[in-house]
Amino acid sequence: MSESRFVQFSKPMLGTEEAQAAYDTVMSGWVTQGPRVAGFEADFAAAVGASHCAAVSNCTTALHLALQAAGVGPGDEVITVSYTFLATPNSICYLGAVPVFIDIESGTRNMDPALIEAAITPRTKAIMCVHQFGMPCDMTGILAVAGRHGIPVIEDAACAIGSEVLVDGVWGRIGRPHGLAACFSLHPRKVLTSGDGGTITTNDPELDRKVRMWRQHAMSVSDLARNSSSQVMIETFDEIGYNYRMTDIQAAVAREQVKRLDGIVAERRRLGRLYLDRLADIPGLGLPVEPAYARSTWQTFGVLLPAGVDRTATMQVMLDAGIQTRRPTFCCHLEKAHAAPPPRFALPVTEEVYRRNLGLPLHPQMPDADLEYVVATLRRILQGV
Ligand SMILES: Cc1ncc(COP(=O)(O)O)c(C=O)c1O
Repeated sequence: MSESRFVQFSKPMLGTEEAQAAYDTVMSGWVTQGPRVAGFEADFAAAVGASHCAAVSNCTTALHLALQAAGVGPGDEVITVSYTFLATPNSICYLGAVPVFIDIESGTRNMDPALIEAAITPRTKAIMCVHQFGMPCDMTGILAVAGRHGIPVIEDAACAIGSEVLVDGVWGRIGRPHGLAACFSLHPRKVLTSGDGGTITTNDPELDRKVRMWRQHAMSVSDLARNSSSQVMIETFDEIGYNYRMTDIQAAVAREQVKRLDGIVAERRRLGRLYLDRLADIPGLGLPVEPAYARSTWQTFGVLLPAGVDRTATMQVMLDAGIQTRRPTFCCHLEKAHAAPPPRFALPVTEEVYRRNLGLPLHPQMPDADLEYVVATLRRILQGV
């Protein structure tokens, strides 16, 4: 490494508050499916403006349960994108359903609503849009097509805690939700973290009831209800469920994280604006576009390298200069797990964005000087100055 400086790609914002909350939970003796999980669910629902929130083990299991609650089953089709983490199509396949990939918009890196209608068949059971990298999808466009065809929308909001979208003239946080349900991740690369963890938010009480039941082996009585009852409660298991529980240790950490949300989002947005400003004059660089209906959290800030620039070589020069960069996400249909059958539709924008997109460091503890150093290094590589 030619520089002593090291710029981390991302860094969770964890402090003594989270450590103390975890400690207190351990000492309380109630470490799973207890009062802290219930408290976190209430806090998270309030933070995003949803009437219900169920906490689960991670976003992958959240997506699985939300799809199951939407009635997705073997042979059904779910319209989604290939430019996402593998969890998105995997969750569809868990139910024996088929992910139908449609292309994305280059600027937002999100599902192109204009392509949904042509992908709808009699077997289409749901649309799973992904608010990729914290950038809200065009929910007005997506909901209009979905509404015309009576198809439920499940939002993969893994990266979008704290993001906002304008629908019908009203700004709302992602997760209100705007579709049937939204699923979030608390993995350390996300806006908030509890190590691992996930949530499903909805305004549908029946969906909330089902996912709560399924997350704990479809047990008819929750631990919290049994423990707080003065009457003996006998549980039954009337269908097949899963162990998708969040622990109270995770929930206690997550509650502290929710308190930090506004501050984290404000700082992420400030850093995102700084990048957009500093990088604007580099020829051929494809900056992310934040449309008038969206307020991103820049969970990942990716730039499309000018055509012909070798991304891996660029990443190596950046790393040699002490800067961690990443391929922001994957092209699922190019991975063996989802290569067959081949995609029904051509995905030229998806493939180009995947090839050119370079994720730059951005996290709320990043000093401005580090950001300026990243910009200067990228400029030196691309422009030789
Ligand atoms: C778009 C998207 N969906 C789903 C997931 C899965 O989240 P988790 O790791 O919490 O299961 C991720 C995680 O990277 C993601 O980026």
